[in-house]
Amino acid sequence: MSTLIFEQMPFPYISQIHAAIPVIASSTGAVLFLLSRILSEEESKPLYRTNIVLQILFLLVGGVGLAFAMTKHHFSHTHPIDLLIHKATLNYDNYLLQASASKNLEDAVREYWKRYRQHPPPGFDKWFEYATNRSSVIIDDFDQIHENILPFKAISPAEIRDMTHKLATNPFNDLGAISIRMGQVKVQEGIKPTHAWMVTGAAEMIENFAQHLPDMDLVFNLNDEPRVAVPWEKMLLLKQAAHARLPIPQEELLDRWSGDRQLGWAPVEPADQTNQTIFTDGAWRGVFDPYVSAVCPPSSRVRTRRVWNRHDICLSCAAPHTMGQFPLDFNLATEICHQPDLAFLHGLLISPASFKVSQELIPVFSQSALAGFSDILFPSPWNYMDKIEYKPSKEHPDPEYAQKDNSLYWVGSTSEGYSRFNEWKGMPRQRFSHLINNNTHSQVSVLLPAGKDQYQYKIMDGSALGKELNLRTDVHIADPITRCGDCDTQRDELGTRSWVDFQAHWSHRFLFDLDGAGFSGRFLPFLQSHSLPLRTGLFRQWFDSRVISWLHFVPVDIRLHGLWSTLAYFAGVTSPNAGTHNPKEPKMLTDAHVNEGWWIAEQGRKWTEIALRKEDMEIYFFRLLLEWGRITDDQRDVLGYKL
Ligand SMILES: *[C@@H]1O[C@H](CO)[C@@H](O)[C@H](O)[C@H]1NC(C)=O
Ligand SMILES: *[C@@H]1O[C@H](CO)[C@@H](O)[C@H](O)[C@H]1NC(C)=O
Ligand SMILES: *[C@@H]1O[C@H](CO)[C@@H](O)[C@H](O)[C@H]1NC(C)=O
Repeated sequence: MSTLIFEQMPFPYISQIHAAIPVIASSTGAVLFLLSRILSEEESKPLYRTNIVLQILFLLVGGVGLAFAMTKHHFSHTHPIDLLIHKATLNYDNYLLQASASKNLEDAVREYWKRYRQHPPPGFDKWFEYATNRSSVIIDDFDQIHENILPFKAISPAEIRDMTHKLATNPFNDLGAISIRMGQVKVQEGIKPTHAWMVTGAAEMIENFAQHLPDMDLVFNLNDEPRVAVPWEKMLLLKQAAHARLPIPQEELLDRWSGDRQLGWAPVEPADQTNQTIFTDGAWRGVFDPYVSAVCPPSSRVRTRRVWNRHDICLSCAAPHTMGQFPLDFNLATEICHQPDLAFLHGLLISPASFKVSQELIPVFSQSALAGFSDILFPSPWNYMDKIEYKPSKEHPDPEYAQKDNSLYWVGSTSEGYSRFNEWKGMPRQRFSHLINNNTHSQVSVLLPAGKDQYQYKIMDGSALGKELNLRTDVHIADPITRCGDCDTQRDELGTRSWVDFQAHWSHRFLFDLDGAGFSGRFLPFLQSHSLPLRTGLFRQWFDSRVISWLHFVPVDIRLHGLWSTLAYFAGVTSPNAGTHNPKEPKMLTDAHVNEGWWIAEQGRKWTEIALRKEDMEIYFFRLLLEWGRITDDQRDVLGYKL
């Protein structure tokens, strides 16, 4: 089959001769990219800057060193993944240092002020007690919440409440509401039964701390796809207006919610009071140009450049966030403004099955969103309610890493977007399955061991990897092919298999994780297991600042060009030279980085047990809703927690 995105080879940059150029280019690109972020006023937090400066130093030293080694010998002594793992440990230490600095309430209040230049909301002491009662390792770092709430400062509380009412009372909007009155949580009636679990799950989470919340209503996104894409220019004005509101002195603070808050919220029952809607329907077509690129600055690449060539990978689009074929960091890789080629690389962007989107700032709580979107992120009820669970059994145990089958596993459906005219060829789930099973007509480039402690990029036939390198995979599209008008074409090309018990995952060392129509619900169970999660995608969730790539999981670029090299690193390969002298000599597996894989799998597992528990979801949500309580209070400018 010879179409578009599948024919990704040959990659110009990974020929053996000039292996160093991409490393220099991508390091330089990444340094410039990071520098531009330091200089932008958006990212002016001091801690953030320190982190970026460290990254830059790392890139300069690591990247240039690696490139130098490569130019000199055409091969490298250090595998880029070794460097990235090392860097992740540094990142993590830095992260923890600032995320859990405060040891008591006074520290936490001071730290809050230092970070966000405002007083903490009323009830902050209760939140602190709630968090420390549950041994939260993270006390200070909630930048995602701040980022989500800040622009709403530009809109009056009455207006936010009115929007909430209008959003909640038109069934077309695909939203469901929760009302909190006197510490009681009530779910709106008449929510689509298939989607009601999301709202009841959120309500269940809130019930744990509702007694500390003021009266208010919330609207939740019932769709997988995110909903709020405010164009950059409009968002800039909102943020400027928000920043212009200066905090009052501590003495003048009012440490209690306004009385009669319940009067400010028009009833959300019945659920069909409104006919107007703010959403436009963008489903079943490309949404990158009309909606998504608009959230980026006018000078960014997505707004100044189109990528027409779908035959080759746009390496310059990936360069700012990669070292060779490997992402520096998941969060950098999910930023969209420097990647114009994403327009045809992701189901949501090519042809979403549903996409009711607002280009005005509106208060919608979503489980995941793209970078630059303004949905307010909250912890997913999917995980809180254990819709998918890590639950090994006698029949499906979770053995120690070293005891597992040395193979890459994924089974999933074609849920990412709706395909009618071969749009599926750009969607990561299908591209992934095709790359693994059906890549017969093109070549791939794989970074392989070339002698003792040396590495070299080799060009190989796409179909030869399993046989020649002994890389083992078990990857299948699940029956039936869904969300398609071209179902037969997909089935003929990709094949399908029936679903298997989810607990069957744990027998494999490497578990692949990809976006669906929204975030992937499997990621947390994957982290909990002894297996190693390999993750690609664009959707971000509430926890993405606390889960560190290359320390807790392995990130893979959405173009998937580094997938085989990543697998080769962790699984090991049949030595390419073995058996050449003596054909009878058994082929040996070399260079399996079992320790590195085990280390990341266990780090992720341990971290998940202490920082991604249900308690941590509650703690995040509690803090978010205190902020939400303040932003919707008529006296919000004088409200704050007083020591
Ligand atoms: C924290 O724990 C103490 C002791 O169990 C309890 O009395 C208190 O209510 C808890 N605080 C919160 C905010 O949950
Ligand atoms: C909404 O529109 C329908 C059809 O035009 C009309 O029958 C109904 O009364 C309207 N409802 C409201 C609340 O305006
Ligand atoms: C692609 O691979 C799958 C899984 O091995 C197989 O079922 C399917 O027949 C293959 N498609 C083609 C066209 O060979």
